[in-house]
Formats: sequence, structure tokens, C-alpha cells
Amino acid sequence: MTDHIQYDDAAKALKLLDQRLLPCTEETFVCRTTEDIVYALQTMVVRGAPAIGVTAAYGCHLAALEILAETGGEGDWKTKLLEKLEIIAEARPTAVNLRWAVVRAKDAWDARGDVSLPDLAAAWLELARTIQQDDIESCMAIGRFGGVLFNDGDTIMTHCNAGALATAGYGTALGVIRGAIDQGKHVQVIANETRPFLQGARLTAYELHKDNIPVTIACDNACALLMKKGMVQGVVVGADRITANGDAVNKIGTYGVAVLAKQHGIPFYVAAPLSTIDRDTPTGDDVPIEDRTPREVTHVGDVQICPTDVPVYNFAFDPTPNELITAIVTERGVLRAPYTESINKAFDEAGL
Ligand code: MRU
Repeated sequence: MTDHIQYDDAAKALKLLDQRLLPCTEETFVCRTTEDIVYALQTMVVRGAPAIGVTAAYGCHLAALEILAETGGEGDWKTKLLEKLEIIAEARPTAVNLRWAVVRAKDAWDARGDVSLPDLAAAWLELARTIQQDDIESCMAIGRFGGVLFNDGDTIMTHCNAGALATAGYGTALGVIRGAIDQGKHVQVIANETRPFLQGARLTAYELHKDNIPVTIACDNACALLMKKGMVQGVVVGADRITANGDAVNKIGTYGVAVLAKQHGIPFYVAAPLSTIDRDTPTGDDVPIEDRTPREVTHVGDVQICPTDVPVYNFAFDPTPNELITAIVTERGVLRAPYTESINKAFDEAGL
């Protein structure tokens, strides 16, 4: 699946498969402005760290078109454009890919010196397309490296959705599962439902079922029992940000799954591209954790399931300490502890 993020050049619009409505309704959400992009990111029309990065990159292009329409590329267009870029970069705080994509756009701008606004807009469209294509290739490489970590017959647990929908295509954690299958292994998946937005039940189950990959949905709180019964041979999850020491910040509940995996002697893998690794942030405890609206917890769709006026915690992510992580699978290979060293080596080898 790669058609869930599509730029329509003729319409000057980014067309996103609206992930809020899946699995029952497949509808396109059209972004023409920075405001549309920010809305799509914040309400999770599009979500998942690499997909957020790709969307932000197209958002920079749309921002340039917007400022061009407003100023004709004259006067203080640079200041206005920088303001828009900052609004995009701040749409969500945890996934580092968002700011990473905006920084890449800014770097491309710097590299072009005194570029005109129309030329900058064109260059950013090319950049967004490159980021999108590179992400698919990274996911496929992650799949090849990660697939070998599993055996024929394994049942693999995953949390949230780190699949094609969360990336430009193929997926990171689900890329590893697809990689194992491409290597001829018969594996099946347990998708934790992932309260409250239900990325596991709605999105992981949707895309695996569509690809005929055997998947069973489990309530988040069944994880311990399933592991104790020997029904899980490995866990693979994605990440929104991996810090310099190898801690992995991912969807709320991931930390608990990692603790349970350790308790039951089950390998726990994190799959992510290097664009998700933030070497400027020392540990997972230093990462800002998004605090989302209580309504996601108090309601299922339009139905209220909690008493009115009772306070709610809705932290969207948690940091998993690196000592609980068996390995980090990247497009440059499988990284193992000590992570500070293996991460630095991977960046050096990639020339980053
Ligand atoms: O809030 P979301 O749905 O954007 O959170 C997504 C996750 O936590 C994913 O596991 C992570 O971004 C990796 S996506 C390849």
C-alpha cells in the first residue's frame, strides 16, 4: 500500500487516506493549505512517525505555494514562510520525523542561497517526493534485516500501527513481518488493540488482513496472559523517536509490553529508520510526550463511555528503556547494545 499519501500536482493538493475512518470507510482527505496539513496531523487523519514526516515535507511545498499566492514572491515572503514552517514542525511534539522533514526543507533552502519562491516551491516538491520514495526503500531494507530475526511458525506481537499506513509504504515493524514472509516464513501476528485510538485493532488488522497476513486482535490487557501461555515468540514495534542512548519512545503501552516480554524471556525488537533516531536528545525521559484530548478516552466514536467531568490521562507515548530492547532494526542493519556506539556507527556509515 503506497497510495494513502498522494500528491496531485494538477490540483496542487495532498490527498490522504483518512485513517480516522478506517477500517469501515475509505475516504480521501484533501490538504491544500498549511492549515489543512496541521489539522490532518493533529487529528490523525495521517499518523505514524515516517508518514508524518512525508506529510510535513509536502506541507512545506504547500506553504510555499500559499505564500506565493499571498505575496507574489515579493516583500517579506521569507519571514512569512518561516512562520508557516514552524507551525508545521510544531503540529505534534513527539515524533522526531516531523521536525526532521522541516529541517531538511530548510537545509535545502539554505543550500540554494538566494532562490526565488517559485523555484523553492518546485525544489520542495521534489524533496517531498524523494523523502517519500526513500522511506519506502528504507522500510523494505528494514524488512530484509528484520525478517531474519524470526523463525518459521512464529507468532509475533505488535503494538499500535507501524505499517504501510504509518510510513510511505511497507512499514517498519510490519515491514519486518512482511520481510519474514518474503523470506518464506509462515508467521502470524497478534495486534494489540492499542487504546484509545485503536491503531492496532483498526489499522494494523486492516492492512494485514488486506494482504492476507494472518492477524488476531487482542485487548491490550491480554498481553501478559498471551505471553505466559507461550503464544508469543517475539515482539516488534515501531518508534516515534529513538534517543542517543537507544531508548525508544513509541505509542502508549509499548513500555508495558517490553517489561512483560523481558519477564517472559521474549525478544523485543524496535524497527525504525535512521530519520527516527534523534542523537540530540540524550534519553527517552527527555522526549516531550504528547498529551491528547480526553475525548479519545471518554468516547468511542460519538458514544460516551465514561462519567462526565471525571479527569482523564491521555498520554499518547511512553519511553521504553534501552535495556529492555533486544535490538533496533534500521535500514542500515540490526543495531545492538551498547546503543550509543552502534547508533553512532550506523550514522557514520550512512555519512550522516
Ligand atoms: O499517535 P500515532 O498513531 O502517530 O503513533 C504512532 C506510533 O506510535 C507508531 O508506532 C510509530 O510512529 C512508528 S510508525 C512506523
